Amino acid sequence: MTDARIPRDAKAAFTASIRIATSSDLDAIMAIERANFPDDAWSRDAMASELGNPNGRYLVALDGDEVIGYAGLRAVGDQADVQTIAVREDHRRRGVALALMRELLAEAASRGAETTFLEVRADNLPAQTLYARLGFVAFTIRPGYYPGGVDAIVMQRRMR
Ligand SMILES: CC(C)(COP(=O)(O)OP(=O)(O)OC[C@H]1O[C@@H](n2cnc3c(N)ncnc32)[C@H](O)[C@@H]1OP(=O)(O)O)[C@@H](O)C(=O)NCCC(=O)NCCS
Repeated sequence: MTDARIPRDAKAAFTASIRIATSSDLDAIMAIERANFPDDAWSRDAMASELGNPNGRYLVALDGDEVIGYAGLRAVGDQADVQTIAVREDHRRRGVALALMRELLAEAASRGAETTFLEVRADNLPAQTLYARLGFVAFTIRPGYYPGGVDAIVMQRRMR
């Protein structure tokens, strides 16, 4: 699992690997986190705590030695939640998020999850498209869940 190759695609000469995130990745993860979630970025302490949570699994995608994306899962009992995912803007549309998500879903299944949930902003079409492609379907709405009053769409995916 820790070195899943992301296939080189025709439109962009690119390869990356995925491995489990460690505390040494915190600086790089936080830089991507702050760039992508300016209104509600997690604090460094919160991210460090997530990385160390035994119920969690956080992954980084690498281009060479450089962290270009990350994603995290929490799995407890028969439910898992995708906690976060972000890919650096200059590495988007190359299958990095798909590869991260597939690894997280495999991890959720191996921990016994029967359903995986996530929340996504109602105005975040790229992420919704990504999740739909992986078999997630809208489950319910949390009105005004995000800063600025943006709704959250809760999506779920049955694992079998
Ligand atoms: C959403 C995000 C993680 C996608 O990362 P990515 O590595 O570019 O995604 P991928 O290249 O793996 O895309 C896989 C598929 O998702 C869909 N997708 C991804 N970005 C999309 C976009 N901007 N518009 C439409 N569909 C998109 C497409 O179906 C895509 O397949 P395709 O490129 O063959 O059409 C990235 O845009 C990001 O980091 N956004 C900011 C943070 C964020 O919104 N995170 C999610 C919070 S819920």
